[in-house]
Amino acid sequence: MMAMAARPAPGAVMAARVMAASVMTARVMAASVMTARVMTALAMTALVVMGTARLQAAELSSADKARLVNLVREDCGSCHGLTLKGGLGKPLTPDHLKVWSHEQIVLIILDGVPGTPMPPWRPLLSEDEAAWIATRLQQGDLP
Ligand code: HEC
Repeated sequence: MMAMAARPAPGAVMAARVMAASVMTARVMAASVMTARVMTALAMTALVVMGTARLQAAELSSADKARLVNLVREDCGSCHGLTLKGGLGKPLTPDHLKVWSHEQIVLIILDGVPGTPMPPWRPLLSEDEAAWIATRLQQGDLP
Protein backbone atom coordinates (compact mmCIF):
# COMPACT_ATOMS: atom_id res chain seq x y z
CA MET A 1 0.00 0.00 0.00
CA MET A 2 2.77 2.40 0.99
CA ALA A 3 4.77 1.52 -2.14
CA MET A 4 1.70 2.10 -4.30
CA ALA A 5 1.16 5.52 -2.76
CA ALA A 6 4.80 6.54 -3.33
CA ARG A 7 4.61 5.70 -7.05
CA PRO A 8 3.52 8.69 -9.05
CA ALA A 9 0.34 8.25 -10.98
CA PRO A 10 0.90 7.55 -14.72
CA GLY A 11 -0.67 10.90 -15.53
CA ALA A 12 1.91 12.70 -13.42
CA VAL A 13 4.75 10.86 -15.19
CA MET A 14 3.34 11.94 -18.56
CA ALA A 15 3.00 15.50 -17.33
CA ALA A 16 6.60 15.47 -16.09
CA ARG A 17 7.77 14.12 -19.49
CA VAL A 18 5.84 16.78 -21.33
CA MET A 19 7.33 19.44 -19.05
CA ALA A 20 10.83 18.07 -19.63
CA ALA A 21 10.22 18.04 -23.36
CA SER A 22 9.01 21.62 -23.38
CA VAL A 23 11.99 22.73 -21.29
CA MET A 24 14.17 21.11 -23.99
CA THR A 25 12.21 22.84 -26.72
CA ALA A 26 12.55 26.17 -24.92
CA ARG A 27 16.32 25.60 -24.65
CA VAL A 28 16.59 24.78 -28.34
CA MET A 29 14.52 27.86 -29.14
CA ALA A 30 16.66 30.06 -26.88
CA ALA A 31 19.75 28.69 -28.63
CA SER A 32 18.33 29.48 -32.04
CA VAL A 33 17.31 32.98 -30.91
CA MET A 34 20.94 33.44 -29.85
CA THR A 35 22.13 32.15 -33.22
CA ALA A 36 19.71 34.46 -34.99
CA ARG A 37 21.02 37.40 -32.91
CA VAL A 38 24.60 36.54 -33.80
CA MET A 39 23.64 36.19 -37.46
CA THR A 40 21.82 39.53 -37.37
CA ALA A 41 24.84 41.19 -35.76
CA LEU A 42 27.10 39.69 -38.42
CA ALA A 43 24.78 40.78 -41.19
CA MET A 44 24.62 44.29 -39.74
CA THR A 45 28.41 44.46 -39.60
CA ALA A 46 28.64 43.26 -43.17
CA LEU A 47 26.13 45.91 -44.23
CA VAL A 48 28.06 48.65 -42.45
CA VAL A 49 31.31 47.51 -44.05
CA MET A 50 29.66 47.31 -47.46
CA GLY A 51 28.02 50.68 -46.87
CA THR A 52 31.35 52.28 -46.05
CA ALA A 53 32.87 50.78 -49.17
CA ARG A 54 29.94 52.09 -51.19
CA LEU A 55 30.33 55.59 -49.75
CA GLN A 56 33.70 55.75 -51.50
CA ALA A 57 32.55 54.69 -54.94
CA ALA A 58 30.91 57.49 -56.84
CA GLU A 59 30.58 56.96 -60.57
CA LEU A 60 28.06 59.48 -61.82
CA SER A 61 27.06 60.61 -65.28
CA SER A 62 27.79 64.21 -66.22
CA ALA A 63 24.03 64.93 -66.23
CA ASP A 64 23.85 63.68 -62.65
CA LYS A 65 26.83 65.82 -61.71
CA ALA A 66 25.29 68.92 -63.26
CA ARG A 67 22.07 68.30 -61.32
CA LEU A 68 24.05 67.89 -58.09
CA VAL A 69 26.09 71.04 -58.62
CA ASN A 70 22.84 72.91 -59.13
CA LEU A 71 21.34 71.39 -55.99
CA VAL A 72 24.38 72.27 -53.88
CA ARG A 73 24.49 75.84 -55.14
CA GLU A 74 20.74 76.44 -54.90
CA ASP A 75 19.49 74.26 -52.04
CA CYS A 76 22.52 73.87 -49.81
CA GLY A 77 23.51 77.43 -50.71
CA SER A 78 20.22 78.80 -49.42
CA CYS A 79 21.40 77.95 -45.90
CA HIS A 80 25.15 77.62 -46.24
CA GLY A 81 25.57 80.79 -48.28
CA LEU A 82 25.61 81.16 -52.06
CA THR A 83 29.38 80.75 -52.03
CA LEU A 84 29.05 78.06 -49.35
CA LYS A 85 31.10 80.19 -46.98
CA GLY A 86 28.37 80.07 -44.33
CA GLY A 87 25.01 81.60 -43.55
CA LEU A 88 22.39 80.00 -41.34
CA GLY A 89 24.44 76.82 -41.85
CA LYS A 90 28.16 76.56 -41.24
CA PRO A 91 30.66 77.11 -44.04
CA LEU A 92 31.09 74.13 -46.37
CA THR A 93 34.67 75.00 -47.19
CA PRO A 94 37.50 72.39 -47.16
CA ASP A 95 39.12 74.15 -44.22
CA HIS A 96 35.94 74.10 -42.14
CA LEU A 97 35.11 70.49 -43.06
CA LYS A 98 38.57 69.23 -42.03
CA VAL A 99 37.24 68.07 -38.64
CA TRP A 100 35.02 65.48 -40.32
CA SER A 101 35.95 62.28 -42.14
CA HIS A 102 34.56 61.70 -45.62
CA GLU A 103 32.09 59.13 -44.21
CA GLN A 104 30.90 61.55 -41.54
CA ILE A 105 30.20 64.27 -44.09
CA VAL A 106 28.32 61.79 -46.28
CA LEU A 107 26.19 60.77 -43.31
CA ILE A 108 25.56 64.40 -42.28
CA ILE A 109 24.31 65.09 -45.80
CA LEU A 110 22.16 61.94 -45.92
CA ASP A 111 20.76 62.08 -42.39
CA GLY A 112 21.00 65.77 -41.49
CA VAL A 113 21.87 67.08 -38.05
CA PRO A 114 18.91 66.32 -35.76
CA GLY A 115 17.79 69.27 -33.66
CA THR A 116 19.19 71.80 -36.15
CA PRO A 117 17.77 73.14 -39.43
CA MET A 118 20.17 70.84 -41.36
CA PRO A 119 17.69 68.50 -43.08
CA PRO A 120 18.28 64.89 -44.17
CA TRP A 121 18.80 64.58 -47.94
CA ARG A 122 18.31 60.82 -48.14
CA PRO A 123 14.94 61.24 -49.83
CA LEU A 124 16.62 63.24 -52.63
CA LEU A 125 20.14 61.90 -52.88
CA SER A 126 21.63 58.44 -53.29
CA GLU A 127 24.68 57.51 -51.21
CA ASP A 128 26.88 57.82 -54.29
CA GLU A 129 25.53 61.31 -54.94
CA ALA A 130 26.07 62.39 -51.34
CA ALA A 131 29.59 60.91 -51.49
CA TRP A 132 30.30 62.84 -54.66
CA ILE A 133 29.09 66.12 -53.09
CA ALA A 134 31.12 65.40 -49.92
CA THR A 135 34.29 64.87 -51.97
CA ARG A 136 33.70 68.05 -53.99
CA LEU A 137 33.16 70.07 -50.78
CA GLN A 138 36.20 68.53 -49.07
CA GLN A 139 38.38 69.32 -52.06
CA GLY A 140 36.77 72.70 -52.67
CA ASP A 141 36.34 71.88 -56.35
CA LEU A 142 32.60 72.00 -56.89
CA PRO A 143 32.41 72.84 -60.62
C1 HEC B 1 17.49 74.55 -44.15
C2 HEC B 1 18.87 74.93 -44.06
C3 HEC B 1 19.93 73.98 -44.58
C4 HEC B 1 20.01 73.40 -45.81
C5 HEC B 1 19.03 73.53 -46.97
C6 HEC B 1 21.23 72.63 -45.82
N1 HEC B 1 21.87 72.74 -44.61
FE1 HEC B 1 23.62 71.82 -44.09
N2 HEC B 1 23.48 72.61 -42.25
C7 HEC B 1 22.52 73.52 -41.82
C8 HEC B 1 22.80 73.90 -40.47
C9 HEC B 1 22.00 74.87 -39.62
C10 HEC B 1 23.98 73.21 -40.09
C11 HEC B 1 24.71 73.25 -38.75
C12 HEC B 1 24.18 72.16 -37.87
C13 HEC B 1 24.87 72.19 -36.54
O1 HEC B 1 24.58 73.10 -35.78
O2 HEC B 1 25.70 71.29 -36.30
C14 HEC B 1 24.38 72.41 -41.24
C15 HEC B 1 25.48 71.59 -41.24
C16 HEC B 1 25.98 70.95 -42.37
C17 HEC B 1 27.21 70.23 -42.42
C18 HEC B 1 28.16 70.01 -41.25
C19 HEC B 1 29.05 71.23 -41.19
C20 HEC B 1 29.84 71.25 -39.91
O3 HEC B 1 30.98 71.65 -39.96
O4 HEC B 1 29.28 70.89 -38.85
C21 HEC B 1 27.37 69.79 -43.71
C22 HEC B 1 28.53 68.99 -44.26
C23 HEC B 1 26.22 70.24 -44.44
N3 HEC B 1 25.39 70.94 -43.60
C24 HEC B 1 26.03 70.02 -45.77
C25 HEC B 1 24.89 70.40 -46.47
C26 HEC B 1 24.65 70.06 -47.85
C27 HEC B 1 25.63 69.32 -48.74
C28 HEC B 1 23.42 70.55 -48.16
C29 HEC B 1 22.68 70.42 -49.46
C30 HEC B 1 22.54 69.07 -49.97
C31 HEC B 1 22.91 71.23 -46.96
N4 HEC B 1 23.81 71.11 -45.96
C32 HEC B 1 21.69 71.90 -46.90
C33 HEC B 1 21.44 73.96 -42.57
C34 HEC B 1 21.12 73.56 -43.84
